[in-house]
Amino acid sequence: MQTWLRRKSIDQVTVHEEGRRLVPSLSWPHLIALGIGAIVGTGIYTLIGVGANLAGPAVLLSFAIAGIVCACAALAYAEMATMMPAAGSAYTYSYIVLGETLAWIVGWSLILEYSLVVSTVAVGWSGYMVGILKGIGIDLPLWATAGPHAGGFINIPAVGIVFVVAGMLMAGTRESATLNAALVVVKVIALAIFVAIALPHFDAIRLEPFMPFGFSKSMGADGVERGVMAAAAIIFFAFYGFDAISTAAEETKNPERDLSIGIIGSMVGCTLIYMIVALAAVGALSYAVFGNSPEPLALILRELKQGNAATIIGLAAVIALPTVLLAFLYGQSRIFFVMSRDGLLPRGLSKVNKRTGTPIATTLFTAILVAALAGVARLDEIAALANAGTLAAFIAVSVCLLVLRKRDPSRKRVFRTPLAWVVGPIAIFGCLYLFWSLPQRTQLYFLIWNAVGLVAYLAYGRRASLLAKGGDA
Ligand code: ALA
Repeated sequence: MQTWLRRKSIDQVTVHEEGRRLVPSLSWPHLIALGIGAIVGTGIYTLIGVGANLAGPAVLLSFAIAGIVCACAALAYAEMATMMPAAGSAYTYSYIVLGETLAWIVGWSLILEYSLVVSTVAVGWSGYMVGILKGIGIDLPLWATAGPHAGGFINIPAVGIVFVVAGMLMAGTRESATLNAALVVVKVIALAIFVAIALPHFDAIRLEPFMPFGFSKSMGADGVERGVMAAAAIIFFAFYGFDAISTAAEETKNPERDLSIGIIGSMVGCTLIYMIVALAAVGALSYAVFGNSPEPLALILRELKQGNAATIIGLAAVIALPTVLLAFLYGQSRIFFVMSRDGLLPRGLSKVNKRTGTPIATTLFTAILVAALAGVARLDEIAALANAGTLAAFIAVSVCLLVLRKRDPSRKRVFRTPLAWVVGPIAIFGCLYLFWSLPQRTQLYFLIWNAVGLVAYLAYGRRASLLAKGGDA
């Protein structure tokens, strides 16, 4: 077989040498918690404002479109994750189904996704944290709370929270997953409080005009690309995270049952929550008022003269957003881990610590990279780029679903995606449309990132690959 097409065997994917195997310790409640923990975050707490600015009240449509595309992708993930319950998610499925070169591109895109999500959420967390501190009279100087793009120097709270979460992860997966479950409850209750207060202020007049910037992405006079789809391409950020569950497949006790429940349960739950929160937000206050706020949900409540509730929302965000960091930092270190175990990245990255059963060196390495980014980057730009990486992974997984249905139709599928030939294409074309709707600059950065990745692959990974040496990692 040609080098760039070489594939891993589907049967070998769960066999690993001693000392490079993760310990199975999770079951479906952990996974649902990991899922909602990863999904509900800066997307609904902060980017809802950015989305409303791009689409007006029709941001509701943006939520629905992004949600439908993600639900279809989630179904494809569930089938793939249960057929190949091994760490590495989209990267591993692509290695088995599409071959090493495409797998590399997917893995490289996942690195972009996971690291930039961690950086984005750290910046979003910092926004709410700075707001809370201000509320109790502590005004942090601008140089220490924003990157150079906003007139600051370095966002110290954002850097700090990344290292706190990394420390938790290095102490052991199981403990972190349990704490995560408690924080998920806080985060969801806070959104329920927001809806309970904001929804009674709903006035249909605020939904007029519903679609002030049109449907398809179009460039405004100020150079900003707006429209329902432009907003959907950003809001997409709020929906993903269920794929972080599939990166935990190797550590799941009963992957066949637990992964299906975990992925689909958390996806459907979050979509419902978002639609209600978005309806409450745009119905209670004009989008133009909260669109630019670094803490839009808190701002809406303050405008409704509910200062105490605003403080509660802010506190909940500060306490609970780290669950998103936890899930993605976890996922990121595992992607490095698996790619290095396959020989595509240096082998030192796949060493598991004997005492904690976690890849300590990899986690630390990841934390340093994403903290550096969080210190200086701009929220909406890094969110858009994270989305580009995620869309690439979603497309790959949906393609894998269809290819495997054709190539290996009789293999046992614990979870079968219903109407795969409808759901798969909706996911693929939906993701392509969302990718096209991202800002042009983001698309360019994404291409540059992958060009650099391909050079790294040709210069190192292609030769160092364990598969190239005759092994099956
Ligand atoms: N869906 C996650 C969030 O909204 C990434 O923060």
